[in-house]
Formats: sequence, C-alpha cells, structure tokens
Amino acid sequence: MKSSIFAGVLLLSAALVSVDGQSWAAFQRKHVNAGMTHIKCTEVIKARTIVDPPNRCKVINTFITYDVNAVLAVCAGGGTPYGNGYTISNATFPIIDCTQQNQNQVPPVVPPNCLYNGTASTKRIIVRCENKKPVHFHGSQ
Ligand SMILES: *[C@@H]1O[C@H](CO)[C@@H](O)[C@H](O)[C@H]1NC(C)=O
Ligand SMILES: *[C@@H]1O[C@H](CO)[C@@H](O)[C@H](O)[C@H]1NC(C)=O
Repeated sequence: MKSSIFAGVLLLSAALVSVDGQSWAAFQRKHVNAGMTHIKCTEVIKARTIVDPPNRCKVINTFITYDVNAVLAVCAGGGTPYGNGYTISNATFPIIDCTQQNQNQVPPVVPPNCLYNGTASTKRIIVRCENKKPVHFHGSQ
C-alpha cells in the first residue's frame, strides 16, 4: 500500500516535469536560436515541434536569438531575483515573439499547420532557474 502510493507520487512528479518540459535542454529547444530572424517563426516552430501538449498550436513562443552561453549565464550570476522565484537578466537580449496567425479558425488548426508572425525586440528576459540553468521562460520586459 505504502509503496504503491510512493510509486504514484513518483509517476505524478515525472508527468509534471515532462508536461512542462522544464529542463535546460527543453528551454534551449523552445527558446534559444542564435541569429534567427522574425520571418522564420513558422519554420522553426514546426522543425522543433514546439506545441501545446498534447497536440495544439502554441499561441505564443519567444526565441532568444543570441549565444546560448550568454543565456545560460543569466542563471549563474548574470541576473537578479524577480517576482515569485524568477530571475531577470541584467543584460538585454535580442528576442523574437512568435504569435500564431491562424489561431481563431474553426475547426482549430493543429500542428504541423500552425502559422506564425514574428516581432523582434531587445529586452531583459525573465526565467526560472534550476541548478543555475534556465528551465522556464516567463516573459520579457
Ligand atoms: C546582476 O545584478 C545583480 C543585482 O544588481 C548583481 O548582484 C550581479 O553582480 C549582476 N551580475 C553581473 C554579471 O553584473
Ligand atoms: C503575418 O504573416 C503573414 C504571412 O505569413 C502575412 O500575410 C500577414 O500579413 C502577417 N500579419 C501581420 C499582422 O503581420
């Protein structure tokens, strides 16, 4: 009895981690792409299979279009505590906000047919750090 409850808790926490994809590897796949331009949103999101689980178009996804080591450094001294457990970068980064352009269609468009428009800007990034690595993109300002 005790051991099955324990196993259940383990399964649940594993599921939460995988649904949210909260790892540095997942963060890089979803949010880091050095040199990317705003016209590449649709192509990159499709190639990297960035979706809202289980299989919906993600409405907004932000890419930091800069060197991955500089992004990593935000969680290793290059940032400042922000809000409820987040870290905001001291430096600004070039970013692209990709917004789904065909989001209100009936029936809904599903991957891999999601189309995006991208907007470039330069902002501070707000992330959640774990073990000195970014694992969740919270926003920018
Ligand atoms: C970032 O800002 C924080 C808070 O001001 C400071 O403690 C830290 O040294 C800064 N990091 C760098 C790399 O400048
Ligand atoms: C979004 O991109 C499409 C092409 O992919 C373009 O036709 C449309 O005008 C763009 N919309 C905005 C608001 O920029």
